[in-house]
Amino acid sequence: MNLHFWALLCLSWIADQCVYAGRDFYKILDVSKGATEHQIKKAYRKLAKEWHPDRHPDDAEAHERFQDLAAAYEVLSDKDKRKVYDRSGEEGVQKMGGGGHGGHDPFSSFFGDFFGGGGHDGEQETPKGADVVLDLFVSMEEVYNGHFVTIKRKKAVYKQTSGTRECNCRHEMRTEQMGMGRFQMYQVKVCDQCPNVKLIQETKTLEVEVEIGADDGHEQVFVGEGEPHIEGEPGDLRFRINIQKHSRFERKGMDLYTNVTISLQDALNGFELDIVHLDGHKVKIEREKITWPGARIRKKDEGMPSLTDNNQKGTLYITFDVEFPKGEMTAEQKAKFAEILQQSSKPKVYNGLQGY
Ligand SMILES: *[C@@H]1O[C@H](CO)[C@@H](O)[C@H](O)[C@H]1NC(C)=O
Repeated sequence: MNLHFWALLCLSWIADQCVYAGRDFYKILDVSKGATEHQIKKAYRKLAKEWHPDRHPDDAEAHERFQDLAAAYEVLSDKDKRKVYDRSGEEGVQKMGGGGHGGHDPFSSFFGDFFGGGGHDGEQETPKGADVVLDLFVSMEEVYNGHFVTIKRKKAVYKQTSGTRECNCRHEMRTEQMGMGRFQMYQVKVCDQCPNVKLIQETKTLEVEVEIGADDGHEQVFVGEGEPHIEGEPGDLRFRINIQKHSRFERKGMDLYTNVTISLQDALNGFELDIVHLDGHKVKIEREKITWPGARIRKKDEGMPSLTDNNQKGTLYITFDVEFPKGEMTAEQKAKFAEILQQSSKPKVYNGLQGY
């Protein structure tokens, strides 16, 4: 599209609505200009699922939308890029990328500046600080509904200071002629001069997402938020989901298990009851038939949502226990029960280990 045309259009708009020569990332994610990090993340997650290529095979338009979403999210989820985008649109962000190194991570960019933007391409050559792994204790409710945890992290970062230091040191071979046909090889240490650095403490607030359906051990990674490395990039900060025991539900994969104790009367006559689920909704259970201790019923789609597709859910298994009345019945009651139940069979004595 013609830039002049855009510039003209811009003039006639209110300044802050003018995003020229590029896509409208806010519109793509369907969020307002003032959207919080939460809202952006949420919108992206929802739409990305909707437009995932797996769901629309051979649909070029869907594919394009998916790519737009990814581009919009990459920029709007990054504070620095978002600022630039708000000021000068997609073009501005592209210029900022410098050399098209892709992920210009705001946290590791510090080192990028140090070692002369670009040049270093072999990923293996760049040393990395240690990864920090932290357990994130979450409840079953949080995993079922999704949740954000705000974490304050104090971390050490290297900041440039005055003076220089030796860096990028390596050994090089030198050859010297000692006389006719005699050479000597020796090693020298060669270093570059880099700006001096000092370690300072920085406090940063991180939003850790507990993704819907995440299982024990699932990791949420913050690239570049781990331990710093003086010659290279910082390691990563990884939060490992650790789901705490629940008082009523047990989880196995995507399935949930719960136990219900009913009275002997309900076991015989049938019953209706509600189980309150992890998000507060009620699962209705109705039974006309007799329920015996250990009977199990299944409720499809009442289990855990899948991590990759929240619309897909596992099964809820409900196991019943029967509470018998205590005490003794009168002769009259006993006669009534004998008449109703008609269970004349004799008790069977058997050895459980061998069957009978
Ligand atoms: C249900 O009861 C069984 C048998 O007592 C027990 O092993 C299981 O852990 C219980 N499940 C839940 C979710 O409490």
